[in-house]
Amino acid sequence: MTTTISPSLLACDFLNIEEEIKSLEKEKNIWFHLDIMDGHFVPNLTFGHPIVEKISAITNQPLDAHFMVENPSFYKETFKNYNIYNFTFHYESVQDSFKFLRELKEIYPSVGISLKPKTPLDVLSEDILKEIDLVLIMSVEPGFGGQKFIEETYEKIELLNKTRKKLDLNFKIQVDGGVNHTNAHKLKECGGDNLVAGSYIFKNAPSEYSKKIKSLR
Ligand code: DX5
Ligand code: ZN
Repeated sequence: MTTTISPSLLACDFLNIEEEIKSLEKEKNIWFHLDIMDGHFVPNLTFGHPIVEKISAITNQPLDAHFMVENPSFYKETFKNYNIYNFTFHYESVQDSFKFLRELKEIYPSVGISLKPKTPLDVLSEDILKEIDLVLIMSVEPGFGGQKFIEETYEKIELLNKTRKKLDLNFKIQVDGGVNHTNAHKLKECGGDNLVAGSYIFKNAPSEYSKKIKSLR
């Protein structure tokens, strides 16, 4: 199966966001990755409701919202009008992940849980894994684009992939942070099926984006 690539709009040219989005509108098997940061869960602040609403109005590509916020439940109801395909929250940001996951499943087609690099896989109970659509393994500390890929990520993905096979489940494994052409192949071999990439795609001329996405596959 071809790897889904999720271009992270955090790295795009915000002054030309409409053209940036349109330049990828015809691309197959991509999700637009939206990094929602509140300045509390992570030391950076990005964008929220008004911008996501505008983005959703100009694209038919699936939207993949990655909430790096202290209170993701605040966004649960209000984001449902923006045609979000996948809603990912951080395990570290909620008290009862299983309960929140079930609430989100009522609203969104796909729900993900993200783990920071130092959060071990065993926080994800079998109950959670059976219900979840996607696990996002952070390969950098969340908060900023353009950071260096943490090598220990490979092992974490391999282990999660083994568990997925053992339990005969089919949630997706997404990887986010420092993804580029040097690690994409190995990430796929380890079991990654959705790769988020910001700088690697957008720090080029728009005419290069397609080629960059292809090289990640
Ligand atoms: C980091 C974000 C990432 C970021 C990835 O906290 O979650 O999605 O945009 O950017 P690159 O690909 O530049 O590491
Ligand atoms: Zn992200």
